[in-house]
Amino acid sequence: MTKKELFQYDFEQHVREGLSAYPKFLSSKYIYDDKGDKLFQQIMALPEYYLTNSEYNIIDKFKTELRKEFETSTTGFDLIELGAGDGKKTKLLLRELCENQINFTYKPIDISQNSIDELSANLLDLFPDLDVQGEQGMYFKVLGELAHYNKRPKVIIVLGSNIGNLQHPEAIDFLTKLKDVMAPNDYLFMGFDQKKDPLTIQNAYADSQGVTQEFNRNLLHRINKEMDADFSVDKFEHWEAYDPETGTAKSYLLATEICEVHIGKLDLSVGFKKWETIHTEISQKYDDDIVEWLAHKSGLQVKKHYEDDAKYFKDYLMQVKA
Ligand code: AVJ
Repeated sequence: MTKKELFQYDFEQHVREGLSAYPKFLSSKYIYDDKGDKLFQQIMALPEYYLTNSEYNIIDKFKTELRKEFETSTTGFDLIELGAGDGKKTKLLLRELCENQINFTYKPIDISQNSIDELSANLLDLFPDLDVQGEQGMYFKVLGELAHYNKRPKVIIVLGSNIGNLQHPEAIDFLTKLKDVMAPNDYLFMGFDQKKDPLTIQNAYADSQGVTQEFNRNLLHRINKEMDADFSVDKFEHWEAYDPETGTAKSYLLATEICEVHIGKLDLSVGFKKWETIHTEISQKYDDDIVEWLAHKSGLQVKKHYEDDAKYFKDYLMQVKA
């Protein structure tokens, strides 16, 4: 099977499982087709979605300090970014490194070949001397290949609080896999959105323009398109619930009418009661204790952390536990 066929197969199995379960669920990882990527770009530009600006502020404020932290070896280093996207925040760091003639290779890894191609072209325009070696793939698959990537020190960066889509046990699994490919002097630089006024979080995921609703609904559009289904997508409303006790923001699609959906490709009919839910995403929020606990459980240790001026977001610099 090709990568694409494998993905499609996983997606179909997932839809069958998630829509046959009670309560129903679907994973946010299937939101990101071309349209989903564009909607996420729109989310990042929303006034309510503070995460992007906060992390931009952190990298801008600490870029010189980070450069000095990263340039420990005379052989240079590899800067590996998981989930590179459009690289808006990373460019700040790349500029800092390029302007100081640091010897490094930038390896952006993203699930979308399209965003890798666009990012690489754009970066070569901005920084003609930059060595960019992008790679398309799933984090976990590419991580396996990274284990052999040990010729010089690595700095692995994962921005945007992408880890927040994972439950704690899955996050530990992810961090452990990262730890397994890291040598003692390698760094992991990772963003974790912080616990804060619950209303600020609630508003970030329930924006007034309804972009997040369209983003969430894209799951159903995709199932309609790729699995010959007949969801009346606008009968499903986005609902966001942030629990300040657990720090978990949960997204749902709510059926506003009783309906029966047929998914042709799966030969599956799914009934919805009025106000029945499909749980689609979690966006976990953290504090220092939780991050230290996750790191500890994964064989990592936090070396330093960096915070934005609003104190909304932190990036943590980690290494393998000694
Ligand atoms: C890409 C996972 C960081 O959870 O904040 C944004 C995705 N979902 N608005 C997040 C998202 C709804 C985003 N991450």
